[in-house]
Amino acid sequence: MGGPNLPLANGIRQSRILLDRLKVLLTREQIAKKVAELGSQITRDFEGESIVLIGVLKGATIFLADLASEIKLDATFDFIAVSSYGNSREQSGEVKLMKDVDQSMEGKNIILIEDILDTGLTLTYLQHQLVGHKPKSLKIAALLDKVSRRTQPIHGDYVGFEIPDEFVVGYGLDFAERYRNLADVCILESDEESS
Ligand code: IMP
Ligand code: MG
Repeated sequence: MGGPNLPLANGIRQSRILLDRLKVLLTREQIAKKVAELGSQITRDFEGESIVLIGVLKGATIFLADLASEIKLDATFDFIAVSSYGNSREQSGEVKLMKDVDQSMEGKNIILIEDILDTGLTLTYLQHQLVGHKPKSLKIAALLDKVSRRTQPIHGDYVGFEIPDEFVVGYGLDFAERYRNLADVCILESDEESS
């Protein structure tokens, strides 16, 4: 008990060992409820306006998809990509733009959508990047927020959950590109903790 419910197609034997190191932090039901609340809030805040949802690849994709379906406004999608942690758990400190948005953002209401706010380096960089496009407004939505890890003076406008300083995976978040397809957000214990 306590492990996440993986989709059946994912039940490959090799991952049994890895699954034992996962602890559910947020269930899919808790996430769905929160995402619906955030969607309603955005719908209210931008009543009568059009918005552009910009997802930060790849971690924000699932959150973006679920959040978008809870927003009852005229909306379009775009995506942006930055260099990531690579295969380590620590932020390198350097953020590089790997893919820019496809459309002009001038005069648009942007909601930048990220999986997690950690040190704040990524979103601070992207905020500056997008302000250069002269949008009408720019808000930040993050499913998770590790407030205690912040090194930059940045906050999310639409935040799902504040979480402790643990490395988490699932619902789009990865470790070395894996676990994004878990429906729950889980804590990935390090080798030392689990042995
Ligand atoms: P920041 O630039 O330090 O705020 O980090 C943001 C990025 O780091 C997120 O987009 C994630 O890709 C990654 N990240 C931070 N914490 C975690 C975690 O606990 N699990 C998976 N990825 C994380
Ligand atoms: Mg990410």
